[in-house]
Amino acid sequence: MSCVRVELGERSYPIHIGSGLLRRAGLLTPYLADRRVLVVTNETLAPLYLEQVLAILEEASPQVLILPDGEEYKTLQVAAQIFDALLKSRFGRDSALVALGGGVIGDITGFAAACYQRGVPYVQIPTTLLAQVDSSVGGKTGVNHPRGKNMIGAFHQPICVVADTDTLGTLKDREFHSGIAEIIKYGLIRDADFFRWLEDSLDSLLERNSAVLAYAIRRSCEVKADVVGADEREAGIRALLNLGHTFGHAIETGLGYGRWLHGEAVGAGICVAGHLSARLGRLADSDSVRIDALVARAGLPVKLPAELTEQQMLELMSVDKKARRGCMQLVLLNSIGSAALTDDFSVEALMGVLHSNRLAE
Ligand code: NAD
Ligand code: GLY
Repeated sequence: MSCVRVELGERSYPIHIGSGLLRRAGLLTPYLADRRVLVVTNETLAPLYLEQVLAILEEASPQVLILPDGEEYKTLQVAAQIFDALLKSRFGRDSALVALGGGVIGDITGFAAACYQRGVPYVQIPTTLLAQVDSSVGGKTGVNHPRGKNMIGAFHQPICVVADTDTLGTLKDREFHSGIAEIIKYGLIRDADFFRWLEDSLDSLLERNSAVLAYAIRRSCEVKADVVGADEREAGIRALLNLGHTFGHAIETGLGYGRWLHGEAVGAGICVAGHLSARLGRLADSDSVRIDALVARAGLPVKLPAELTEQQMLELMSVDKKARRGCMQLVLLNSIGSAALTDDFSVEALMGVLHSNRLAE
């Protein structure tokens, strides 16, 4: 087992990463002692891992809430089901939530924890690659709105993250590939050596080689923990974690939640951000080609969906949490390993890449 810490003063917490963690009795005991616990999961995860989780939480005698599965259920209405369950069983401020699942369960459960009685603690047990490398860490919680992805939410850090890499064994290939988009992102924004390592190791990663996977997860969590520790509420550097996301969120909202997976939308978004960076002369063309090649090898789309016109993309992209005074800002690349948040691009340049990077109809 390895452990990466997110250093945030009194809100610091560990990310435990390794095989067999869901069989480690006592791992969560110090975090949940004297708390009433509600485990939130979904109908896919419950038959796979709920029994193991209930066994390691035995002392807490947890209750369970099973939600429907899918990005389309990451809504305020479904979050209300968590509040209903908590209130029905008279959970007080001494409660804690446990999120067992991918990013959808993690985000909605974290959001419920942030709001319930003005905030109760929660633990993340991420079961997708994407959740283990990204969404379970950093305290961004929330739900989608029909007009914009993750538009309703709160910053609320978990008290512990337990990433059992064995759970990835049951993940479908499409979901596994989706997580690789966020791993590539870390290399691009902050660690050129890690990007090169990914280029060299991608085949083994796709085969889910345990040593390669463990390193990819740990390095991703180290980068994320470092960035979140420096800028918890995204006043600066944390915005770089959104490389490709303004494009990606527009795709998810525009197509309808769940059509493209989050990582697929981010994969294409990263490539288009690379093309725009190259068009503006910030990034070498050869680096943009390397990015497309790695994203494609990871089984992810490199182009925007044909269904969305560049005008629709532009409108969807303008609903973005990084916009300032109505002005869009994008994370662009200066080189592989270095990114910046900027509004220094013209609408014409943006429309140009949106046009030339659409899939053929
Ligand atoms: P997801 O939670 O929908 O999980 C993907 C699918 O895999 C689901 O059907 C799920 O039931 C299934 N699944 C999960 N674990 C499994 C396992 N071990 N075996 C078999 N099936 C399993 O999707 P995701 O990709 O994990 O997360 C995407 C969400 O995360 C998006 O809503 C995105 O906005 C959010 N996100 C949040 C942050 C953040 O910082 N909070 C960061 C990145 C992404
Ligand atoms: N996934 C972006 C962030 O956590 O800031």
